[in-house]
Amino acid sequence: MNFPNEDRNHGVKTVVVPAAGMGTRFLPATKTVPKELLPVVDTPGIELIAEEAAKLGAERLAVITAPSKQEILAHFERFPQLEETLTERGKDEQVAKVRRANELITPVAVEQERPLGLGHAVGLAESVLGEDEDSFAVMLPDDLVLPMGAVEEMAKVRAELGGTVLCAIEVDPDEVYNYGVFDIEEVDGREDVKRVKGMVEKPDPADAPSNYVATGRYLLDRAIFDALRRIKPGKGGELQLTDAIALLIEEGHPVHVVVHRGSRHDLGNPGGYIRACVDFGLRDPKYGPALRKAILEILDEVDGESPAGAEQA
Ligand code: UTP
Repeated sequence: MNFPNEDRNHGVKTVVVPAAGMGTRFLPATKTVPKELLPVVDTPGIELIAEEAAKLGAERLAVITAPSKQEILAHFERFPQLEETLTERGKDEQVAKVRRANELITPVAVEQERPLGLGHAVGLAESVLGEDEDSFAVMLPDDLVLPMGAVEEMAKVRAELGGTVLCAIEVDPDEVYNYGVFDIEEVDGREDVKRVKGMVEKPDPADAPSNYVATGRYLLDRAIFDALRRIKPGKGGELQLTDAIALLIEEGHPVHVVVHRGSRHDLGNPGGYIRACVDFGLRDPKYGPALRKAILEILDEVDGESPAGAEQA
């Protein structure tokens, strides 16, 4: 599948998609369904990420999967029998939907036997990178960063300033306790590019170094693999990607953020997932009008049941 306007001169060939986590915040659904396959309207999160990687012009999607999550890769296969049946029944639109994931990009499976952390998962991608790849992108499939295209901006900054480039969004100062928060300094003449001095995980708002927080898009220099080998497991015995980035910063490796001015959805927890479904649903030409009506009716009902609910709204 070809997308117009894609900038293929940024050198990003591989997009790594860590998808081997346990999805504990989504239990009981994730007992049998990987959270990356939960649909936003009708499209699984992993297919939205594949679309973003294809638009970037990447050649391969390195999907880090767990032994128990084989369905994720299966989503990218061809389904000839299903296509045949749908074609016979004249359901061309559905045939296109069945084919789409397969046509977007070439997936490569990398197995993470046990969920030893995001850093461990990213470290496994070294085996699929070509020798000529000095950098690669990581896209977390439970994080939608919209409109798509953040990594293109990050690649431009890497071309100019080198090193590693991360993606930040600005949140209200009292919300920072949910996120990884950047300690930053300004870069002359650049409003939306900042140099990263450090990072603090889920700080108290009073102690937060800024209100710029991390999103699930990374453009990592290959030096990250060596840093990942040198860090020790952190919280929960997991190898943390942020610890490896912190080590690189300490050693003088340039790390910058691009401030993303669009929107973002966290699909990794039910609250964020429902919000994403409502946002995408309301914008969907087929389902939007009825959903809008239904939401207004439900709001009326819920507010009527609980005066406290009405006050909060
Ligand atoms: P999360 O922490 O959001 O995912 O990791 P999780 O561990 O599945 O979620 P909870 O906390 O148990 O609900 C961010 C991304 O990194 C992947 C996850 O699949 C997710 O896409 N990941 C995390 C791995 O691939 N391997 C790991 O060991 C940990």
